[in-house]
Amino acid sequence: MVEIEEVEIRKILDSRGNPTVEVDVYSEDAFGRFASPSGASTGIHEVAAFPEGGVDASIDLFQSDVIPQVLGLNIFEQEDLDLLLWELDGTDNLSRIGGNAIVGLSMAVAKTAADLLGIPLYRYVGGLIRDVLPFPMGNVLGGGKHAIGGTDIQEFLVISQGETFLDSVMAGARTHKRVAKILKEKYPDVALGKGDEGAWVAKVSNDEAMEIVSTACREISDEVKFPIQPGLDLAASSFFKDGKYVYREKKLDLDGQISYVGELVDRYELFSVEDPLFEEEFEGYVRLTEEIGEKCLVIGDDLFVTNGERLEKGAGMGACNAILIKPNQIGTLTGTMDAVRLAQEEGYHTVISHRSGETEDPAIAHLGVAFGSIAIKTGAVSGERTAKLNELIRIEEEL
Ligand code: PGA
Ligand code: ZN
Repeated sequence: MVEIEEVEIRKILDSRGNPTVEVDVYSEDAFGRFASPSGASTGIHEVAAFPEGGVDASIDLFQSDVIPQVLGLNIFEQEDLDLLLWELDGTDNLSRIGGNAIVGLSMAVAKTAADLLGIPLYRYVGGLIRDVLPFPMGNVLGGGKHAIGGTDIQEFLVISQGETFLDSVMAGARTHKRVAKILKEKYPDVALGKGDEGAWVAKVSNDEAMEIVSTACREISDEVKFPIQPGLDLAASSFFKDGKYVYREKKLDLDGQISYVGELVDRYELFSVEDPLFEEEFEGYVRLTEEIGEKCLVIGDDLFVTNGERLEKGAGMGACNAILIKPNQIGTLTGTMDAVRLAQEEGYHTVISHRSGETEDPAIAHLGVAFGSIAIKTGAVSGERTAKLNELIRIEEEL
């Protein structure tokens, strides 16, 4: 048996400039570290990133109540460890100690185990590795809770589908640049900003944004000679008020929202639509998936929150055909893998994902490979985003 010998936790910054935590694990001559990200448009059913007292309270509780309990445990018994972490927290959403500290330890232990075996994390987690890497799905224009003054729709994404990950990721960044060029030509005197994930933020309507991103995709696709499709993350719960989808220029009821999304899918040949409806609207998701599920991915993020029980409910009804996977939504690697396994059994695609407040940690790149995800949603530019993209370039070389 190889024991967890030493655990450390510290406060660090995320890409938004908010405090978060990273956890270090030592065992024999091996080491693993995971730096936890944080969301801004979080689902109501996610685990809590931090307890009421914030990061400092989380660190204190982790040091007093968690570290002494995990020292000496078998580094390879990931499931037992993750179960114990839930017991030590004692709440049903990790709100006593905080999900970011818990997921930090859970992931750092897996990284240490991989280091002990001398293999990369994607091989250690392993199991579902496909012979192709996930497509990069990058946010190029947006707003919502990730920016001030942007579109109501949170993210306009591009999914580049080249022969290699390297080709795809380069084309994604080029499309991001092309979006800026189009905006500059249309509005030469207006300042252009960037949101939390490196996507452009401009004072354009949702429909105009859709038109611009679709044009950029078409132009770059013609140049590189492989498909580049637009996709959306509406994060609809963030503009759902009193039973209506409230856009700056219009207000839609459920029927209106379903037909609006259907029209966008048809007109712009969307690769994917994420969170197009309110996060409790399972029935509506069933209807929408019946309408557009053959043509594109219908991805549940806030709807499923990487939670196997919520996915089971959705799959039983036929809500969505894909699930976004964010380890810190569910708090442990085991919880994440449970959701992925269930998704595979139910024939749902998985899309591994960053958070809007990220760290430089590249681990989700490995998870995307290990889970056989169809895409990795991790932005198109910015260091904390390219940390994942560049790691996948390295993994592609290795494979
Ligand atoms: P978040 O948003 O990381 O701010 O929660 C990302 C998303 O909605 O996919
Ligand atoms: Zn989302």
